[in-house]
Amino acid sequence: MTKTQKLTGLNVAIFESRLSKTMADLVSLQGGIPFLAPSMKEVPLENNPAAFRFAEKLLKQEIDVLILLTGVGTRTLVSVLETRTPKQEIVEALKKIQIVPRGPKPIKALNELSVSYALAVPEPNTWRELLKTLDGNRDKVAVKDRVVAVQEYGISNPELVAGLEARGAKVLRVPVYRWALPDDIGPLKAVIQKIVDGKMDVALFTTAVQIDHVFQVARQMCLEVPLKEAFGRVVVASVGPDTSEAIRSCGIAVDIQPVTPKMGPLVVETAERARAVLESKRHPERSEACLPDRQGSQHRDSSAPQSAAPQNDGDSVFLKACRREKTSFTPVWLMRQAGRYMKDYRLIRDRVSFLEICRNKDLAAEITVKAQEKIGADAAIIFSDILLIVEAFGLGLEFTKGDGPSIQRTIRNAKDVEAIPEINPAESLGYVFQAIRQARKTLRPDIPLIGFAGAPFTLASYMIEGGASKDFARTKNLMASDENLWKLLMQKIVRASIKYLNGQAEAGAQAVQIFDSWVGCLTAAQYEKYALPYSKELIREIRAGTPVIYFGTGTGPFLEKFSEAGASVIGVDHKVELGAAWRRIGYDKAIQGNLDPSVLLKPVDEITEAVKKILGYAAGRAGHIFNLGHGVLPETPLENVIALVDRVHELSRKNSGKQVK
Ligand code: CP3
Repeated sequence: MTKTQKLTGLNVAIFESRLSKTMADLVSLQGGIPFLAPSMKEVPLENNPAAFRFAEKLLKQEIDVLILLTGVGTRTLVSVLETRTPKQEIVEALKKIQIVPRGPKPIKALNELSVSYALAVPEPNTWRELLKTLDGNRDKVAVKDRVVAVQEYGISNPELVAGLEARGAKVLRVPVYRWALPDDIGPLKAVIQKIVDGKMDVALFTTAVQIDHVFQVARQMCLEVPLKEAFGRVVVASVGPDTSEAIRSCGIAVDIQPVTPKMGPLVVETAERARAVLESKRHPERSEACLPDRQGSQHRDSSAPQSAAPQNDGDSVFLKACRREKTSFTPVWLMRQAGRYMKDYRLIRDRVSFLEICRNKDLAAEITVKAQEKIGADAAIIFSDILLIVEAFGLGLEFTKGDGPSIQRTIRNAKDVEAIPEINPAESLGYVFQAIRQARKTLRPDIPLIGFAGAPFTLASYMIEGGASKDFARTKNLMASDENLWKLLMQKIVRASIKYLNGQAEAGAQAVQIFDSWVGCLTAAQYEKYALPYSKELIREIRAGTPVIYFGTGTGPFLEKFSEAGASVIGVDHKVELGAAWRRIGYDKAIQGNLDPSVLLKPVDEITEAVKKILGYAAGRAGHIFNLGHGVLPETPLENVIALVDRVHELSRKNSGKQVK
């Protein structure tokens, strides 16, 4: 039995069908009130007449071109045909025709069959790009007067069919079905109505099809738009990445996704976080909402303003890469992309001090957005600093020309640690949230905004050393000589950072980066004991659906441990080779990096060679975000930075071309 029933009093919608009772039990165990809304029924494979008609023609070689619209549909089609024809025969027949997959998912399904394809369609992979690709490649794939089969899954695509017919194709529609609505959709309708009426608190999704079916029924009820809006005030929890992607593609944000994609962890994690998420969705104006352990109020406020973050981030190449989804080119942004190497920035700095810029939402937002626009990066990072939180702790912070940051009241003993106050970032760091809101308003909608904070170890060492340090002697001395005091200090930093980063996400940051810039001074054993547990705790508490990039320098000696902290993206410096680093980190995580910043001081052809090398190490694998190994150096020529971004885009596009053939 659970100690505390964290879902007590909350209404929980369950869309699972086959295992709905199990889900209901899991929810009840946490004190929640389960509402069963089975949303799908399996269709026997034999009930797919169109697929069998297609197979007959395929085997008689009467099909010229096959357009594959979805990955699930492609796999289902093969499974259906396999019930009557040996798989090898189907595969051989498919190899004889020209296949045009719409996007990465049908490509993946084809790869599984070892069947190649004739053309790849660029992002965002809609029917428009598909037709455009056909128009531009008539010499390779002609459709005029030829039989073109179109695999459809779930919904048909009349625009595509009409477009093909207009080009003279004889279209054969091949709808395939795996899932249908259940025979009785009454309970599903009732739950949809409850969500729209604001009477549901949590929605649990356990497969991708569920969200499509929910909207199919909502459409029948003429409640599509109100339902979409209403999900903005409900905790949306998804079992895993495919389900989350399907939910996001309906324009709905996913709040919770467990690390392990199973029903048990889904319910447990939802129970852990539901109240905090509910509070922040229903009362985004209240900063305390970010506290994960806060027992949120259950009062409904349908007029509460929504987060400034766009609801649908599905089209951002950067966010896709964070989630290790395929992209048509490698996204790139640079640490310190807004800074002294830029003339615009230096002009502002001539008038205003660094700290004043950070505190001025208009200036901070302007610098953030201008830098992204000028260099063409695929993400923007909010102009701010990891040390502002130190000021919020009341320790005093100064940036002196040439010397960098200095902290006035350093942490040296138990009294100092005990005196560090619990902070409310909405008050002491509210200007950062304001800058994020402002920047989010002016940034191009498809350019995500990254929020950030220092990692607990790096912040602690700044607070102890007071500024830059060569040997970190004081930090190492404190952590080894008084482990309890170290723990207390780190926990205070973690608690503040959780609120700070979740507040940034709430204000509109769509990903967050945690900078562990100084962690490389530790041995592997020291990292594991004195830094890792705290980074882990911080990362675990970042609100679900916000990718976390955990960056460190000098992490080569303990990269495996570093990547255990739980971040979905690991940032590596240039002292490791990216291919080897990724292998060590594990391909279940995305990687960010790692050009040596000093390469940007060299001629453009040398930069190009260095980019090629790194892209080669990444090998076109989904989940690589190009960046430097550390921040842009102040003496870097702007045109080299622009050239770098362009080269990454160009060369990675070519690479992906090579990969798919
Ligand atoms: O473009 C961006 O990356 C966003 C802005 C940003 C700044 N600092 C602005 C800044 C970010 C992400 C940071 C993070 C930061 N700050 C880190 C982690 C990254 C890293 O470099 O390891 C650290 C360690 C700091 C602390 C800090 N801030 C130092 C050591 C210094 C002085 C040295 C330096 O590079 O100037 C700063 C000052 C600072 N932070 C400047 C900027 C643009 C320069 C201020 C000026 O105009 O004089």
